[in-house]
Amino acid sequence: MSLTAYRTLGCSGLVVSPLALGTMTFGSGGWNADAPTARAIFDAYRGAGGNVIDTADIYAGGESETLVGQFIRDSGARDAVVLATKFGFNATATASGGGNPHAGGAGAKNIHRALDASLQRLGTDYVDLYWMHVWDGVTPVAEIVQTLGDLVRAGKIRYFGFSDMPAWVAMQAATIAAERHVPGPIAMQLEYSLVARDIEAEHLPAARAAGMAVMPWSPLAGGFLTGKYRRGATGDTGRLSGANPFGNSKFADRNWAILDVVKAVAGELGRPAGQVALAWAMAQPGVGSTLVGARTREQLDSNIAAATIRLDDDQLARLDAASAPTPGFTAALAAPAVRRLIFGGHDVAGW
Ligand SMILES: NC(=O)c1ccc[n+]([C@@H]2O[C@H](COP(=O)([O-])OP(=O)(O)OC[C@H]3O[C@@H](n4cnc5c(N)ncnc54)[C@H](OP(=O)(O)O)[C@@H]3O)[C@@H](O)[C@H]2O)c1
Repeated sequence: MSLTAYRTLGCSGLVVSPLALGTMTFGSGGWNADAPTARAIFDAYRGAGGNVIDTADIYAGGESETLVGQFIRDSGARDAVVLATKFGFNATATASGGGNPHAGGAGAKNIHRALDASLQRLGTDYVDLYWMHVWDGVTPVAEIVQTLGDLVRAGKIRYFGFSDMPAWVAMQAATIAAERHVPGPIAMQLEYSLVARDIEAEHLPAARAAGMAVMPWSPLAGGFLTGKYRRGATGDTGRLSGANPFGNSKFADRNWAILDVVKAVAGELGRPAGQVALAWAMAQPGVGSTLVGARTREQLDSNIAAATIRLDDDQLARLDAASAPTPGFTAALAAPAVRRLIFGGHDVAGW
């Protein structure tokens, strides 16, 4: 597969590459790519045929959007690019509080403010895919659907999706939109990797039922699944080393055991571990386009090469077994033994 193996994002007409370029690393910051490096990453991704650029108003204090907007203008490819950005986090919050509550969340007032500011930084008059970055826990879902649908009708955004929310929120939005014959969410953006498979319980089935694609973020678990960190080592470099905003939650016994299997498969294929982790994410049912993040051009090149890997059934089975999430209530309900109890001992096939 290559980046030009285009497909639609969920049940929509938005045509996307199998890998999307995440630009959380673009702009100033300790673990970020400076402007020339960010441009090289952007150019390499576009050169490989990639068409989805994902940013957010909050990344590097808006600098990521500014750089992305500049690169797209310089490339003259606005029409060919799927430009995605996000609203929801509040840039005015301080440790002692006192920020503007209208500068975050999914209320209509903030969405309009946030979109106008993003469009200004991006230097464009529309966004292709507008994400609710995070669920705020209070705004009625009907209001979110109304506001984002109005923006579609106004031509300021083409599509919208939800990130980091309970599955029921996206499902309720899809249901309201379908009943009212108005635009609904086309995708979910969620953490998904071999060491973070929680979304398989509720989000993936909800996405499938509502025709939404899933776009995994942190498919390398912030770099952990590249295998560059060593257990118990202190001198490793990278985003997860030393003092960092992501903590060391990836360095768990369970994750090191998963990484061992990733490395074994990588050894069989003669490929880096990170490429195997990306290939696994891309191969999961329901995944529409997988976000790749990079701090250097070399990292991006390696990540793009993951698209050419096809894991065989045995390799997928070993990776799945090593990383299987603990079945919760929902997964237990779907067990074959429960179905047989319901259908008089028969294995009834579903649609
Ligand atoms: N919706 C959300 O809440 C949310 C949250 C997070 C991310 N995102 C999106 O998802 C995108 C990707 O997320 P992510 O950056 O967390 O993804 P990731 O792929 O899990 O981690 C990327 C990081 O891993 C390291 N890395 C990447 N490729 C590598 C390679 N080939 N070899 C060695 N190290 C490598 C780099 O960090 P170092 O070099 O510093 O180690 C890089 O910054 C973001 O850009 C953003 O667009 C969305």
